Amino acid sequence: MNPQLLTLPTSIATDRLLLRPWAISDVSELHKLQQESWEQLNKWYGGILSKEQTTKDDIQVYINNALSSWYNRDFLEFAAFSKDTGQLIGACSFHHLDWTVPKGRIGYIVRKSASGKGYATEMANIFTRYGFQHLIIKRLELRTAPGNQASCMVPRKLGFQFLTVFEKNKVGAQGDLWDLEIHVRFNADNLPHLHIDYSQT
Ligand SMILES: CC(C)(COP(=O)(O)OP(=O)(O)OC[C@H]1O[C@@H](n2cnc3c(N)ncnc32)[C@H](O)[C@@H]1OP(=O)(O)O)[C@@H](O)C(=O)NCCC(=O)NCCS
Repeated sequence: MNPQLLTLPTSIATDRLLLRPWAISDVSELHKLQQESWEQLNKWYGGILSKEQTTKDDIQVYINNALSSWYNRDFLEFAAFSKDTGQLIGACSFHHLDWTVPKGRIGYIVRKSASGKGYATEMANIFTRYGFQHLIIKRLELRTAPGNQASCMVPRKLGFQFLTVFEKNKVGAQGDLWDLEIHVRFNADNLPHLHIDYSQT
């Protein structure tokens, strides 16, 4: 199966979130989120979103790359908006996709002012279902740094199996080496209940 031939839902709605792939019109909103949240992103996420001096041009390049990766099916990221206010809440992605198995990993970010409201857990719940139902993957991994307590809670709340810790597996923002917890699922069974509508736009 060529993954570029997969027909993927591009609009996902829960009771409080609307998710869709990035659009060029999101540059300003993502820049605002990034400027508000760069310190926590710098601590735990990395990349261009994690720098204080990141510009709108950098964000435009980020979104361009996300769009081309969407069509290549090597990185699939959705922006998540509040249904009530329209505010950009965060983003959730499939990354390290390996279509030979097929398998992938989930990543997520939530803006600082929206943290602690269960949004990361909700997005990971959606993506676990989406991965097995729509990408037809066989293995889904979630990697979390043990010091990132909120992120480490997400796979536990969603019934992922804790496999192991990869010691000194990633270079942190300060050049320090992080351990990473490896959590895995092989299906979307018994996830916490969530009402989800999928559609094509
Ligand atoms: C980590 C991050 C995604 C969490 O987003 P969030 O929407 O606040 O997470 P949730 O609200 O779903 O919280 C998940 C759980 O962690 C718990 N939690 C939150 N902060 C915590 C802390 N400091 N210590 C322990 N548990 C914590 C929450 O209480 C929640 O559990 P509960 O629902 O049983 O109360 C967000 O802070 C972020 O974007 N950080 C920077 C990027 C990042 O780390 N991404 C993940 C990389 S793997």
